[in-house]
Amino acid sequence: VRIEKAGHRHFMAKEIAEQPVVLADAISRYSTAEGALNLPEGLDFTGIDRVMLVACGTASYACHVAKYWFEQVAGLAAEIDIASEFRYRDPVLSERAMTIFVSQSGETADTLAALRYAKGKVAKVVSVVNVPTSSIARESDLSLPIHAGVEVGVASTKAFTCQLGVLALMALKAGADRGRLEAAALAAHLEDLRRLPGLLNVSLALSEPVTALADELARARDIIFLGRGAMYPLALEGALKLKEISYIHAEGYASGELKHGPIALIDDQVPVIVMAPRDALFEKTVSNMQEVMARSGKVLLLSDAQGIEEASPGVWQSLALPEVPPVWAPILYAVPAQLLAYHTAVAKGTDVDQPRNLAKSVTVE
Ligand code: G6P
Repeated sequence: VRIEKAGHRHFMAKEIAEQPVVLADAISRYSTAEGALNLPEGLDFTGIDRVMLVACGTASYACHVAKYWFEQVAGLAAEIDIASEFRYRDPVLSERAMTIFVSQSGETADTLAALRYAKGKVAKVVSVVNVPTSSIARESDLSLPIHAGVEVGVASTKAFTCQLGVLALMALKAGADRGRLEAAALAAHLEDLRRLPGLLNVSLALSEPVTALADELARARDIIFLGRGAMYPLALEGALKLKEISYIHAEGYASGELKHGPIALIDDQVPVIVMAPRDALFEKTVSNMQEVMARSGKVLLLSDAQGIEEASPGVWQSLALPEVPPVWAPILYAVPAQLLAYHTAVAKGTDVDQPRNLAKSVTVE
């Protein structure tokens, strides 16, 4: 099949725009409108005492978000590993552990090698992939396709949100299997998740205000992304996207860790992008943000309208997102992270779909 840009300037722009549709598809394949899960038989967390999530690049940040979900929603211990580290650190595997390998392509050499290392040593080897015929899918005990459709842009976008959608449902299944989630609570979570794809359209409308900021961001030498809780991996992903395609040095940090190092970088030239949905940690994030502003940092605040109203005095710019249950906010905030990277790269004139030195699928170790 020939994949076209469908009127978009880049594949990446097309793939960002497709997210409401593909995420809705991914979620509806694994759940019902009546509020029940519909995951493959065999995905059973009974008797599992630990999940180990392993991946590379953007997929590893999806795992990092999922760690928070498995712990918070299911009370299940979760570890994350970068695939190239996993099998070299003598990980302690057990018959009660489930390993989950996440990969868009399903061909990443490090992830495949990690999977082969775990096979037979844990209760079950599960994969979450976009290409159902891939090596990683074929070699796992159980594979869940994310149904994002072909992704062409080297920087992963729609695969990331679909990975998050599928991992969210898996965490809910773990919660149900472990007796942590009653039917009513599960149905409420599913209703929230099924509403998310529609809200991504609101996130996509930020494309215009982000374009207006892009020229200024494109002039920055360093950009820092901050987040707390499950928004911390989103800060890492925002920074990765930006450096991949705009070649601007960017770092993602846990907001509370800022004072232990990166605050030394802050001056009036450094944009600091703060991802702060109004969750239990909002006040703390805001106080970290104020530490940045006290050192003349240029803060770009991402929150919902009320969060912006409460916290925006003194910020450089803000972008308002819809209000969502905080647990699923990372899915929504993925979109502005992608838009910031995309429009900054366009403003710099880089090759957005084929950034230098990078490959879509890395099949060497
Ligand atoms: C490459 C791509 C990234 C991707 C990573 C993992 O580095 O440029 O966008 O996140 O590989 O790829 P996978 O196919 O395993 O998700």
